Amino acid sequence: MTVAGRRTIVIAGGDGVGPEVTAEGRRILARIIDKRALPFELVDVEYGASAYNRHGKVLTEAAFAAMRDADAILFGATGGPEFDAIPAAARKAGNLLAVRRELDLFANLRPIKPVPELHETSSLKARVIDGVDLVIVRELVGGIYFGQPRGIEVLANGERLGTNTHQYTSTQIRKVTRAAFDLARTRNSRVCSVAKENVMEAGRLWREEVQAVRDSEYPDIELNHMLADNCAMQLVRAPKQFDVILTDNLFGDILSDCAAMVTGSLGMLPSASLGPLREDGRRAALYEPVHGSAPDIAGQSIANPLGSIYSVAMLLRFSLGRRHDADLLEQAIANALAAGARTRDIAMGGESLSTTDMGAAVLSELERLLD
Ligand code: NAD
Ligand code: IPM
Ligand code: MN
Repeated sequence: MTVAGRRTIVIAGGDGVGPEVTAEGRRILARIIDKRALPFELVDVEYGASAYNRHGKVLTEAAFAAMRDADAILFGATGGPEFDAIPAAARKAGNLLAVRRELDLFANLRPIKPVPELHETSSLKARVIDGVDLVIVRELVGGIYFGQPRGIEVLANGERLGTNTHQYTSTQIRKVTRAAFDLARTRNSRVCSVAKENVMEAGRLWREEVQAVRDSEYPDIELNHMLADNCAMQLVRAPKQFDVILTDNLFGDILSDCAAMVTGSLGMLPSASLGPLREDGRRAALYEPVHGSAPDIAGQSIANPLGSIYSVAMLLRFSLGRRHDADLLEQAIANALAAGARTRDIAMGGESLSTTDMGAAVLSELERLLD
């Protein structure tokens, strides 16, 4: 909430295909806000290489303040060749990782639920993916992404040494574990915790702390543990076995891209990154597709905007309390796909729509459903 009780949703398209797909998510969100007369104002901020070229910063203080004060953030993507060319210090200050950390967006929810119309698009067999409904809960503000020490140094013998540190405190583990267990209670109450406790001490701690939280606070949750390498295999062998997967920052990043193939394309996957519940009952929240800036297809209006549009559904559900509208939006996406709307990544060589036309196809289905 900003001055004078203004309630805002910040939109930041970012780099590469980010602005293209986010424009479609934004358009749909704006329509729902208008139709339901919701008290939210959309505030657009610059992020990434274009912001750096204009302001010398990937995210200005004003833009970050707008994010901090918002009810929710709809984000596009970060990274790519232009972004990578920014000097290291400027690239790191205020980047997406810094935003996640500053807002303590510790719980990253990545749902994987294929739409039957796209089963053929998947590299996996229809019988393997039909009926999959799982969520990866990825710890987002700890682990090797943030551990110290880190860096590249030159050793006395002239060799260079690169260092990153994978570490977790029990508090960090317990916090995301509770988020995963709470989520599981709204689903099938089954959680699979994924680490590499056979090799890593931080993985051993992970497993022990998750089990302890289960035993003392969530006896109703069915918990099992799986090694991360096996989980990667199980995700493509038999993904239906999973309800909620709870894992660390790095494994969550990798396993979610792998799991994307269940839906037919990485372009389909949304995510919600949630902070702790505040005293006023709200929480910081950032919604973004799981995919990146896709430099190979940026600027051509061929990217699939459904990851961003599904992210808007998550935003409606988790930040605005508009569960019914979220359901309608997901139905509108399913209807558009059933009517044959496809972007290139899910068209299997057939006719495909531009990013904008795909957004329009969902919007027109939504108009029919909005009562
Ligand atoms: P990527 O996710 O950008 O792309 C991987 C592949 O998927 C590419 O072939 C791309 O064309 C395709 N793809 C991605 N999104 C798509 C969409 N919406 N529609 C159709 N196809 C799509 O991953 P990458 O190429 O490894 O990384 C590119 C840059 O993006 C890197 O700088 C990376 O750090 C960054 N990245 C950012 C985020 C984020 O913003 N959260 C996530 C992942 C990667
Ligand atoms: C993601 C991305 C990011 C991550 C990058 C862009 C830092 O791959 O959100 O999945 O690794 O967390
Ligand atoms: Mn990733």
